[in-house]
Amino acid sequence: MARILSYGSLNLDLVYQVPHFVQAGETLSSASRTVHCGGKGLNQSIAAARAGGTVSHAGKIGGDGSVLTDILRESGVDTDFVTVGDGPSGHAVIQVDPAGQNCILLFGGSNQEITHKETDRALEHFQAGDYLILQNEINGLPYIMEQAARRGMRIVFNPSPIDEHIGDLPLDQAWLLIFNEIEGAALAGCSDETEILDTLRRRWPRCRLLLTLGSRGCVYDDGLRRLRQGIYRTRTVDTTAAGDTFTGYFVACMAQGRPEGECLDLASRAAAIAVSRPGAAPSIPVIDEVLSSSLQRAE
Ligand code: RIB
Repeated sequence: MARILSYGSLNLDLVYQVPHFVQAGETLSSASRTVHCGGKGLNQSIAAARAGGTVSHAGKIGGDGSVLTDILRESGVDTDFVTVGDGPSGHAVIQVDPAGQNCILLFGGSNQEITHKETDRALEHFQAGDYLILQNEINGLPYIMEQAARRGMRIVFNPSPIDEHIGDLPLDQAWLLIFNEIEGAALAGCSDETEILDTLRRRWPRCRLLLTLGSRGCVYDDGLRRLRQGIYRTRTVDTTAAGDTFTGYFVACMAQGRPEGECLDLASRAAAIAVSRPGAAPSIPVIDEVLSSSLQRAE
């Protein structure tokens, strides 16, 4: 089985239950506050490990972040390439409304202090055919992508959260892009689902594309065919990390050599379970739970 290196953010998530998202000029009381482990990178690492992948995490925390490496290790993720910087760890302020939807304010902290030396030290342990999962919450992405491509690693990039610097990245080096409609529209410069896929297919002919469509499921395009996957019915408690669960599961299942259709199905089931629970990392299921779940497909 190919190994997976997930190079990405580690955050302390401060989660507030609110009656509605706070508006400009408004002061709002929350019903509760909980602190969870999160960060798109950490969530995707945990999802990939809970899906049965062989996963290492690379990234940076502050002196306050040992809880983040603890949960990675408890979930079976190797943390040898997580370094500890002088500043605080990254954190996220997350509002969750009664419908389970969220909005997120990020503070990058140590996630934005990654050095080339740290990258070299992590990547030298990986080889051609190994998977590298990246999101857009750490600094140094162009260097990480170029060095990983030189090694022949399969770069999986999730351009989340999307920002104006995304076009500066060497995305022609990506092996697989996983993105939602908003990210796809920003990358392609158009908003129709088919047009997004057609545009990106022309731009990067060898790259696999996976477009997630929320309640409409997802579409996978490998250059030869387009596979469509629907979602599973679930009770929405908290959507935080549903996308990360999907990404981590999909990549781990691909690394196990499962057919793409099966990877899409398992990733969709895992995301549905994550949505039915509060928090980011704590909501991600293990593979046995996904396989034995009696989820029904949504029509
Ligand atoms: O995708 C969810 C994650 O986004 C949260 O865990 C938060 O930390 C932010 O990175």
